[in-house]
This record gives sequence, C-alpha cells and structure tokens, in this order.
Amino acid sequence: MSILLAGKLALVTGAGSGIGREVCRVLAREGANVVAADQNIKTAQETVASLTGTEHIALHINVEDRSSVETAFKDVTKQFSKPPTIIVNSAGIVRNTLLMKHDDSNFDDIINVNLKGTFLVMQTAVKAMIEGNATKNSSIINISSIAARGRHIGVSTYSASKAGVIAMTKTASLEFGQFGIRVNAVLPGFIDTPMTADISDEEREMFKKNVSLQRTGKPEEVAEVIVFLASDRSSYINGASIEVTGGLN
Ligand SMILES: NC(=O)c1ccc[n+]([C@@H]2O[C@H](COP(=O)([O-])OP(=O)(O)OC[C@H]3O[C@@H](n4cnc5c(N)ncnc54)[C@H](O)[C@@H]3O)[C@@H](O)[C@H]2O)c1
Ligand SMILES: *[C@@H]1O[C@H](CO)[C@@H](O)[C@H](O)[C@H]1NC(C)=O
Ligand SMILES: *[C@@H]1O[C@H](CO)[C@@H](O)[C@H](O)[C@H]1NC(C)=O
Ligand SMILES: *[C@@H]1O[C@H](CO)[C@@H](O)[C@H](O)[C@H]1NC(C)=O
Ligand SMILES: *[C@@H]1O[C@H](CO)[C@@H](O)[C@H](O)[C@H]1NC(C)=O
Repeated sequence: MSILLAGKLALVTGAGSGIGREVCRVLAREGANVVAADQNIKTAQETVASLTGTEHIALHINVEDRSSVETAFKDVTKQFSKPPTIIVNSAGIVRNTLLMKHDDSNFDDIINVNLKGTFLVMQTAVKAMIEGNATKNSSIINISSIAARGRHIGVSTYSASKAGVIAMTKTASLEFGQFGIRVNAVLPGFIDTPMTADISDEEREMFKKNVSLQRTGKPEEVAEVIVFLASDRSSYINGASIEVTGGLN
C-alpha cells in the first residue's frame, strides 16, 4: 500500500476530539507528521499518544485569538524548521437554541470560533507558507457543515457561521491558487462525536430516516475524505465544498 503523505507536516485544530482526532489518526497512518492543536491541551496530548509514528506534537491553540494562533504557527515552524503545508480547521462549537432565544453572547461565541477562527488560522497559515517558501501542493481544509444549507431549526447562528466558511473557502481558493495552495471545505452530516452525543434518541432516529444510508456517520468516514483532499491525489480539486452525509434528504 502506498503512503500518501510521507514527509508532510500537518496542523489540525480541534484535534482533541471527534472528527479532528480521527483526521490526526489518518494523517499519521499516511506518513504525515501531525501537530494536534486544541484549546484543550490534555485531549490533544491523548490524541498524540494514540498516533502511529513518532514526530507528532500536541499544541495549545485558541482559534478565536490572533496572538494564540500566531504563536502556535511560530512555534511549530521553529520546531520543525518548516511551516505546516496541510491545515485542517476542525475546531468548532454548536449551541442549539431557537433564534428568538439566542442571546448576543451565544452569537458571538459561535461566530468567533467557527468563522473568525477559520479566518485567523487560514491567514496565519498562508503567511507562514509564503514566508517559508512552502506553498507548492499545500492544502487547506475547512470543516463546514450540511447545516450551512439552512434546513435545520435551532441552529441559526451555527448554520450562518458554516455558510460563511463555505463562502470564505471559495474566495480563499481564488486568491491562493496562484501560489499552489488549494482550499476546500467538507460538509459533514450527522456524525457520532461528542458534539452530537447530547441529541435525543428520538431526534437521532428521525434524522436517520432522512439519510438514504439509514445511519449516522463515523468520524473516520469524514477523516478519510479530508486526508484525500490533503493529498496530491486531489491535485485538481480546489474551492470545492464536499458533502459527507450518507445521502441526506
Ligand atoms: N459531529 C457532527 O455531526 C458535525 C457535523 C457537521 C460539522 N461538524 C463540524 O466538524 C468540526 C468538528 O466537530 P466534532 O463533532 O469533532 O466536535 P467535537 O466537539 O468533538 O470537537 C471539537 C474540538 O474543537 C475544540 N475547540 C473548540 N473551541 C476551540 C477553540 N476556540 N480553539 C481551539 N479548539 C477549540 C474542542 O476543544 C474540541 O476538541 C466542527 O467544526 C463541527 O462544527 C460536525
Ligand atoms: C478556509 O480556509 C482557508 C485557508 O485556511 C482560509 O483562507 C479561509 O478564510 C477559510 N475560510 C473560512 C472562514 O472558513
Ligand atoms: C523555493 O523553493 C523552490 C523549490 O521548491 C526553489 O527552487 C527556490 O529556489 C526556493 N526559493 C527560495 C527563495 O528559497
Ligand atoms: C426529514 O425530512 C422531512 C421531509 O423532507 C422534513 O420535514 C423533516 O424536518 C426532516 N427531519 C430532519 C430531522 O431533518
Ligand atoms: C505536486 O503534485 C503534483 C501532482 O500530484 C506532482 O506531480 C508534483 O510532483 C508535486 N510537486 C511537489 C513539489 O511536491
């Protein structure tokens, strides 16, 4: 079996849980060195402990905070003597509240992590790549959500933040293509992670009825798509938004 990502350096945000953790596992399996970045350093360290290979590190990052993001990229670039050229933005939060009950702090939190966080990580990453002369065949993957389509009640701000991720990804791909940096988004459907663990059994069953495969997804099923997008096998995919939903109605 050929190894897809030998010698590449990847940075994953939200790496301490769910989809981000599985992305780290599949990246490591394909030979990449992985920087597992999360606000929760303890869970990021647990992720690193579970990876095959050796040159992986856990890193604290708060994607809402410019200085935290810039420090993270500076430290990584110094430690590995090169910037990461695979970036996966998986840090994200959700709050399920009807629009009429949604307060300003809920709104700000979601936009700051999901939308501003993706912006800060992307901008800092591309700066580091250009400064490090490492733009060729680089790949940035932002995790949006099928919620971006706006078909689910109770998640108005989350859906808006994820629609923003799609629009920003598309624009970023237009601006960065000239450097050889590809930018794509993945739109997961209902995936079994800590984020969806609180959803009631009734709601889960209702949701499954609208999925043509009749089941929820596993984080590794999203991770495999992300790693394909990170690799040169997807060398002509750019600015795309790829649904990973099991065929959601
Ligand atoms: N699970 C699903 O069904 C689903 C569906 C569509 C999209 N998504 C998206 O996929 C991504 C990952 O979701 P998940 O299900 O793995 O969630 P999760 O809650 O299991 O993991 C999210 C991780 O992000 C980290 N994080 C949160 N805020 C952060 C911050 N400010 N800085 C750094 N790290 C931070 C958390 O510590 C956590 O480890 C999110 O962007 C989510 O919106 C998930
Ligand atoms: C997506 O990622 C790219 C690269 O990190 C970035 O340029 C773009 O702003 C991001 N878009 C958002 C907010 O999702
Ligand atoms: C950048 O890298 C390319 C090879 O990838 C090399 O040809 C070029 O000289 C490098 N430029 C600088 C300024 O280091
Ligand atoms: C499932 O689809 C039906 C009809 O398209 C829709 O009314 C319902 O809200 C959907 N349920 C969920 C949980 O998405
Ligand atoms: C970039 O990817 C293309 C397509 O797979 C490949 O032909 C090329 O050698 C790669 N270039 C570098 C610098 O890795």
